[in-house]
Amino acid sequence: MKARYISLDPLIPWMQLSRPFDLSELFGRDAPVELEIGFGSGDYLVTTAKENPTTNFIGIELAWLSVRNALRKIGFSGLHNVRLVQGDARVLLRRIFQQQSLDRVYSLFPCPWPKKRHAKHRLFDAAFLKLLNSRIKLGGDILIVTDHKDYFEWILEQGSNCGFELDSRLIPPVFATKYERKWREQGQSEFFQISMTKRDHIDIPVEEDIVLKTHVLDHFSPERFQPMGGKNRVVVEFKESMYDPLRQKAMVRALVAEGGFVQNFWVEIVKEEKGWHIRPAKGCCLVPTVGVQKALDLLYKSATREKD
Ligand SMILES: C[S@@+](CC[C@H](N)C(=O)[O-])C[C@H]1O[C@@H](n2cnc3c(N)ncnc32)[C@H](O)[C@@H]1O
Repeated sequence: MKARYISLDPLIPWMQLSRPFDLSELFGRDAPVELEIGFGSGDYLVTTAKENPTTNFIGIELAWLSVRNALRKIGFSGLHNVRLVQGDARVLLRRIFQQQSLDRVYSLFPCPWPKKRHAKHRLFDAAFLKLLNSRIKLGGDILIVTDHKDYFEWILEQGSNCGFELDSRLIPPVFATKYERKWREQGQSEFFQISMTKRDHIDIPVEEDIVLKTHVLDHFSPERFQPMGGKNRVVVEFKESMYDPLRQKAMVRALVAEGGFVQNFWVEIVKEEKGWHIRPAKGCCLVPTVGVQKALDLLYKSATREKD
């Protein structure tokens, strides 16, 4: 493996910071904040940040490879006004930004999910547009550019009742992103642009962490322990477990999915003076949610059931 240096400074470990973010503190200055969703290789984010040094930029991206490429470009450019967050924009917008804290949001060539049966995966549905509305300042705007006519028309429909004034037009290629280049090479010379300017505020409070309640068992027998997951609004699956008899400690890997937010973490069941403590494993990175609580409760239930 060839080691390459990239600075991780612009990458925000969002789960470890207190939320919602204080954006002035995050950038060390007060300035307008623009957000790019799905920045891909980061070309546009980096170019725009270079051209607008008095604006703060945040990029959200699901794919680690894209984040890594963008980190390299930010490093080469010596930029200090860009921060990146890896994750699903739907989850992050609910949890990390205060209402009315962003000046502008843009997304260039978001995945169109062209097949009808996949339309449920499209990001810019009415629910997400309302969430964006709540996080943008009055008068702020969203800019979406797509190569896909159906998606363009669908977003316009979705956005009709989300507190925005809509404007749409055909535009030539001007963003020079990887996907714009790809479609140009395939012969597309016009793209569909939607601008949404915030007119009315929609109140969607920040989703907050909960205080986790851990459990203590009088008795625990690792040989008979069978962790059982559960499924309703929250899906909890236990993927693997192990036991260390020397340390008297069991570890269980949990996968929790709730409203599009998926977390993968370890829970420990460890012998202490008062009994066997069931709690998130030390050093484990998670967001305390109802789903995480459910995982702890289900492990408690599984461990007390095996006693009967
Ligand atoms: C078609 S690519 C476009 C990339 C870039 N904007 C461009 O024009 O080259 C869409 C990007 O959105 C990212 N993405 C898809 N869904 C996302 C989500 N829910 N949250 C954050 N990023 C997402 C994908 O990982 C991918 O990098």
